[in-house]
Formats: sequence, C-alpha cells, structure tokens
Amino acid sequence: APITTPDISTCIPSESGFNAEDSVRSNQCCPPATSSTLPKEFVFPKDTTTRIRPAAHRATPEYVAKYKAAIQAMRDLPDDHPHSFVSQAKIHCAYCNGGYTQVASGFPDKMLQVHNSWLFFPFHRWYLYFYERILGKLIDDPTFALPYWNWDHPAGMTLPAFFETDGKRNPVFDAYRNVTHVTPTAIVDLDYNGSDSGAPCLQQINTNLTAMYKLMVSNAADPLSFFGGVYKAGDDPFGNGDPSVGSVESGCHTAIHRWVGNPRMMNTEDMGNFYSAGYDPAFYVHHANVDRMWKVWKDLGIPGHSEPTDPDWLNASFVFYDENEQLVRVYNKDCVNLENLKYDYELSPLPWLKNRP
Ligand code: C2O
Repeated sequence: APITTPDISTCIPSESGFNAEDSVRSNQCCPPATSSTLPKEFVFPKDTTTRIRPAAHRATPEYVAKYKAAIQAMRDLPDDHPHSFVSQAKIHCAYCNGGYTQVASGFPDKMLQVHNSWLFFPFHRWYLYFYERILGKLIDDPTFALPYWNWDHPAGMTLPAFFETDGKRNPVFDAYRNVTHVTPTAIVDLDYNGSDSGAPCLQQINTNLTAMYKLMVSNAADPLSFFGGVYKAGDDPFGNGDPSVGSVESGCHTAIHRWVGNPRMMNTEDMGNFYSAGYDPAFYVHHANVDRMWKVWKDLGIPGHSEPTDPDWLNASFVFYDENEQLVRVYNKDCVNLENLKYDYELSPLPWLKNRP
C-alpha cells in the first residue's frame, strides 16, 4: 500500500533528527489547525496563464522587487496563519522530523519521512506548488512564479545576489548561513561534504559540471536510481546515506543544503538540517532547481527516464493548505505533468551535457 499522510490532527511535535536543546528554530512543527482539518481532494488549477519560474541570476529588478514583497507579506502574517512564513517552514519539519506517522496506512508506529526515497521529488514539487501560489495570492498576482537557483549552470553557481544583505531590511536574507559562502565570489561545490575544496574557480565549475552529468545521466539511468528507493506503507524510512537514495537528492541537493547552512550552529541551521531548512528563503529557490532537474531529466528523452509506474508511488499522498487556506490531499500521480499544474521553467542551457567523465 502507498504511504498516506494522515489528517493533520494526528501531527505530533517531535525532536527526531536534531538537537532540540541547541535549536534556534521551533521544534513545534505541526500545522495550525483551522476549523476543518479534514482534507478535501485536490483539483487542478483553472489558471489561464502558466507561471514561468525564472532563473534567479537573470531575474530583473522588477521581478526581484515582487518576489521580496511576496516574502515580506508572508513574514507579516501572524505565525499561526497557515500561510505564514513560520507555518510554511514548519511543513518541512513536520514531514521530515517525525511529525507524522503512517497511522493512516495502518502503521501508527512507523514514522513518515519524505526524504531518502522515491517520495523526495513529488513531495517537494507539491510543497513548492502551494508555496508559490500562496505568495502569488499575497501580492495579488496570479502569474507569480518562484525563481530557481540555476546551480547547474556556471552563471548560477553562486548564491543568488538577492539573498545577500543589502544594508536594508531584506526579507529574503537569512542570518543562519555560512558567511564564507554568502559572497558573490564563492562558487558552490556540488560535491560539498563539509569542507571547502579550495579549488580555483574554473576548476570548481568544471568539477560541478561533471558532477551534474553523473547525477543526471551516468547514475540515473532508471526511475529508481533517479527518484530513490521504494518506500511504502509499513516500511521504516531509509537513513541518510543509504545507497537507495536518488542520485540528485543524495548528490547536489544535499551538498547545497550543507554548503549554505552555518557550520557554527549546533544543527547547521538553517539549510543544513531538515527541521530548520524551510526558514531560509533560499530553500525554496534551491528546491525549484531540484524540481527543474526532474523535468530536465525526463526531457533528455533517454530510454528509462520516466516516473515510477508502481501504484504505491502513484498513489502516495500528502496534505497541504492551499492558497485558499483549504487543506487538500494530493497524490504523486497528479504532479507528474507540469502542464496540469500550470507552471514551467524558463529555459537555461545545460552545459554539463558535454561533461561526460
Ligand atoms: Cu526536504 Cu532539500 O530537503
């Protein structure tokens, strides 16, 4: 049977996966309960335009102003509002740090974990889908789309400039980042494992492109290599580092989390730990590119590059608050086709295709 997220009323604050005594973010990760906690079935959006997510490094000043205004509006909501900055951040903690069990599938003693398995891509696709629509609603722009951090392209291999402190109050700045990486000259390391490579710029760029080729082609030849291992009702979550974790998830995805998080914090807040990652606006911009990798991988058109067809993948479900504060249940199968979700990605070249090792 598929993994089924329970009704949110069963959410339990948990302290799994981080050191709660030294945490700087809340470990009370359950979503706020509103009058109706019973989720409705999701319906596809009826939007007439497709939201196009732009590459962060190419974003225009007008777009950046809009993006910042939307995040500011989210920060201005009271914490207990389902659309608040804090509530959105807590979604990640609830789904990754033991907030939910598999009680809805009949396994109340098994934790539900959306990482380290084939739930990784669909869960985060849905998470961003609602987050983006909530931001658009807050600024009354039904075409608003999240930026993506184009770290697979040399021009996008630094933290996007709009995240840096600009001397003013920047709503997308986060105080818990690695200060040595938050500069326009630090090139991301897509193999980052906690220590800086010290490689000169051009060499680091080349290493990154080769890493991308491996994660998207050499080590991702079939659905499970790319998406991650089978995880269904009754299974214990895989651990971090398990060989069945999908190529992109265990590779560049995790490397960037660790590269952005502050190594001086006990839990490498914010980006370096599941419980706190959602508090950094960079999380969503990073994940937009992770989500883009799913589309790119499929569009490469290589035989084997397609979604799992196992009903236990197709029918796995999650619950989220939508942009109308309605709790909805969503299924993996409904997020496979981006046309149905009415968003897409601005094109960016794929230079790593030439970096076959
Ligand atoms: Cu839910 Cu980047 O992790």
